[in-house]
Amino acid sequence: MTETALVELALEARKNSYSPYSGFQVGAALLSRSGKAYTGCNIENASYSPTNCAERTAFFKAVSEGEREFTAIAIVGGTRQAGAADFCAPCGVCRQVMAEFCDPERFQIILGNERLEYKVYSLAELLPESFGKESFLPDCEEEDLQ
Ligand code: THU
Repeated sequence: MTETALVELALEARKNSYSPYSGFQVGAALLSRSGKAYTGCNIENASYSPTNCAERTAFFKAVSEGEREFTAIAIVGGTRQAGAADFCAPCGVCRQVMAEFCDPERFQIILGNERLEYKVYSLAELLPESFGKESFLPDCEEEDLQ
């Protein structure tokens, strides 16, 4: 799947954003290694802290469907009024969730906008010196984490 196609899926997912409190609408499209795309939007809550970001919605949908390996995520966001005009970077919590499942050097984070422009970062660029399972399970093999 092309970067543009993934951005288009994220723009489509953004339409489902439930964000009555912030008015900031985010969409994401996560590509699994198997080639399937999982979309997500942000889902807010009157109590605020249960709010889930678009990126994590996509990840949790995918992992709950049995996916564990991912190659890229496209993210679009912006206010209800402005639309997805500017690039929207993932929050720190979402970067940490990406770090749980993705190769820092190879996983691509595609920031897109409604003009279908995009820029691409690796996870390592956006989350350097990250805390991961190797930090406290140094001798752990990948199959032990299944
Ligand atoms: N938001 C996301 O969905 N993803 C991000 O990476 C940044 C923030 C959402 C959370 C909240 O619903 C709204 O944007 C404003 O913070």
